[in-house]
Amino acid sequence: MSMQAKPHGFITRGIHWVSAAMIGYGYLKGLDSVSQLSTPGLLQFEVIFALALGALFVARLVWTKAVAGVTRLPEDAPKWEQVASKAVHLGLYAGVFGIVLSGLGIALAYVTPALGGVFMGAMIGLHEVALTALPALLVAHVAGALWHKVVRRDQVLESMTGRLPV
Ligand code: HEM
Ligand code: HEM
Repeated sequence: MSMQAKPHGFITRGIHWVSAAMIGYGYLKGLDSVSQLSTPGLLQFEVIFALALGALFVARLVWTKAVAGVTRLPEDAPKWEQVASKAVHLGLYAGVFGIVLSGLGIALAYVTPALGGVFMGAMIGLHEVALTALPALLVAHVAGALWHKVVRRDQVLESMTGRLPV
């Protein structure tokens, strides 16, 4: 039998599932247009939400890199799995930071008309590119998790969920 993954810790798992829930919420809520930002309180809420999500992802990066360890993929996993997993994780970080930073860019453009329509247009374009890329990366991420569960049976999925009934 090949090597088995050891579990991620409580804090890494907590950050993972809170950030997943926040992203799910962000997509459900979404916005249709810039003009909605005139709704009282909405711009403030969006900015706080984006800062919280961005801070959570920075915290996870620092916590896993400096303390808890970034991945539980076993060392003897095939090279292509190491590469694919690294690439998708990098993409997930890029997608989330892209959404957060472009969202903050939209907010900045909205309160600073002097920045002009080109800046606003660029930030909206970036927001939409990142919002389109992230779900595709998440499909790959979940497919990878199921691959480890069903084919590799190396406890990589369980490292983030805890013990499963099956
Ligand atoms: C919005 C939803 C999600 C986001 C943004 C997300 C993002 C991430 C990120 C950034 C990592 C850390 C990679 C690293 O730095 O090493 C990770 C790890 C992980 N995620 Fe997710 N994830 C989401 C949903 C899910 C779901 C639904 C599953 C299970 C089906 C899952 C299973 C895992 C597992 C097993 C790991 C550990 C991988 C490893 O140790 O190498 N994630 N996720
Ligand atoms: C400062 C923070 C943010 C601001 C000011 C902001 C603003 C906007 C605006 C103005 C739109 C409409 C764009 C258009 O005209 O097509 C939009 C779309 C959207 N935003 Fe944000 N956003 C922010 C952060 C976020 C975050 C953190 C998420 C998290 C997932 C998110 C998710 C979405 C979604 C799902 C849409 C719908 C995209 C579409 O249907 O094409 N936003 N946002």
